[in-house]
Amino acid sequence: MPITPLTLQDRKQAQRPIVALTAWDWSLATLLDQVGVDVILVGDSLAMVALGYENTLPITLDQMIHHAAAVKRGVKQALVVCDLPFLSYQESLAQAIHSAGRLLKEAGVQAVKLEGGHPRLLETVTHLVEVGIPVMGHVGLTPQSVHQLGYRQQGQSALAAERIFNQAIALAEAGVFALVLEHIPAPLAQKITAMVAIPTIGIGAGPHCDGQVLVTADLLGLTAKAPPFAKVYLALQPLITQAIQDYSLDVRERRFPGEAKT
Ligand code: KIV
Repeated sequence: MPITPLTLQDRKQAQRPIVALTAWDWSLATLLDQVGVDVILVGDSLAMVALGYENTLPITLDQMIHHAAAVKRGVKQALVVCDLPFLSYQESLAQAIHSAGRLLKEAGVQAVKLEGGHPRLLETVTHLVEVGIPVMGHVGLTPQSVHQLGYRQQGQSALAAERIFNQAIALAEAGVFALVLEHIPAPLAQKITAMVAIPTIGIGAGPHCDGQVLVTADLLGLTAKAPPFAKVYLALQPLITQAIQDYSLDVRERRFPGEAKT
């Protein structure tokens, strides 16, 4: 059965953890979907892990649509959520609806994610939900604010923790169907998770969230430096390097292709 935002809410009720990962192309998305990952996020982290940008700010809506459409073509079951990139939703309500609408219409994703919880953003969430676009929220460390926040853990002081808690509650009230909690102290994530009816999906937010997400490039060991909270399940970079070195040597020494393989 295809996963929907309602499925995720049922998962929270049933206390069955939600598995989420990021994807940026068709081949990776196909594998994640076949394994049974619940949520495939076309995160704007692809700006860094797939396109080589220094942070997530430069990626455009057109680039996100291009990648999201490729991901969507590989997915049959998972819920595909796509990030609204920086400055594709902050200028006006009309801009947010237009950008989110393009992701649904042109890429075929089922939901969008946006970062932050300030009052004008809450209004945007309400409008998107009113026109029928499911929205995932994202608080704590919000990489689109890197020039204000850096990549440090957020919510360390009582005041900062209270601000994130209030944003989470307000986003839930505004209608988000799920909430990413990024790089905040575990007790704060636990408190938010207990207070909201919607599922929380943690990344560097401890074990008490309703689900977990990682940037798949970190999990696979494809990034030069994964964040401290990521778990590297496979060190793929040296394996790829070795395979390419082996191939190069075979070609240079005329071992590949052999006589039989033309
Ligand atoms: O862009 C992204 O990959 C994300 C995850 C880190 C949640 O937003």
